[in-house]
Amino acid sequence: MYLTVIAAALADSSVRKLSQQEELPLLRDHLLRLDRNSRHDRFHGFMDDSFIERYAEKCANDGTIVIAFFENGVVRGAAELHPPDQSPDSLPEIAFSVETSVRRRGVGSILFRKLIAEARAKGYESLRITTGAQNDAMRALASKFGAHLTFRYGESTGTIDLTQQDDTVLAPSAVTTAVDAVVNFNRAYWKMLVNMTGWGRAA
Ligand SMILES: CC(C)(COP(=O)(O)OP(=O)(O)OC[C@H]1O[C@@H](n2cnc3c(N)ncnc32)[C@H](O)[C@@H]1OP(=O)(O)O)[C@@H](O)C(=O)NCCC(=O)NCCS
Repeated sequence: MYLTVIAAALADSSVRKLSQQEELPLLRDHLLRLDRNSRHDRFHGFMDDSFIERYAEKCANDGTIVIAFFENGVVRGAAELHPPDQSPDSLPEIAFSVETSVRRRGVGSILFRKLIAEARAKGYESLRITTGAQNDAMRALASKFGAHLTFRYGESTGTIDLTQQDDTVLAPSAVTTAVDAVVNFNRAYWKMLVNMTGWGRAA
């Protein structure tokens, strides 16, 4: 029981943009951890490891921005912002993946907010998202951020107009604020433990 409480208190999470050098190993390993159904949803049917390895390598080299959610130092969620020159109509494409262990806790929403902030900072006015027509989770997440999805050939495609975005959608939610508070508490608690025990000090 005591160990469980300590372990819970030490759980650490954060969200940040990956550097180019980090993208290949960290994005790749996160995507490889996705289970079969998640890979199917994320890659519209392409599921084998070698495809994912090549995909992560491409992202690391083509200017894709990756925002990552870390839990205990491991990337458990990612939002990708692909450069506009890769699509015929010059709309930056976005994509999301959250590992099942941390789903439905608001991680996708936190990543979406950070990605929109990043896209705005780059001066993009519109983003495109494409997902399977049956992907209720992604459709719910995209709709929350103002995407209007239309169905075509088994896919849902939508655009998000960043010039029309309601700023209240982008404001941190009560959940995000609570997550931040827990994260801050955990950091403070960890520091306090280290100071109390002398862990990490040179002998
Ligand atoms: C789509 C995905 C990223 C959502 O991540 P998440 O961390 O669970 O999302 P959140 O917890 O922030 O939930 C966002 C909203 O979607 C809703 N939602 C999440 N999963 C849902 C589901 N299975 N069915 C219906 N609604 C769902 C939540 O209720 C929430 O709405 P609310 O804030 O109004 O309550 C995640 O399910 C995933 O990685 N799926 C596999 C990969 C994939 O499909 N990627 C999309 C291709 S681009």
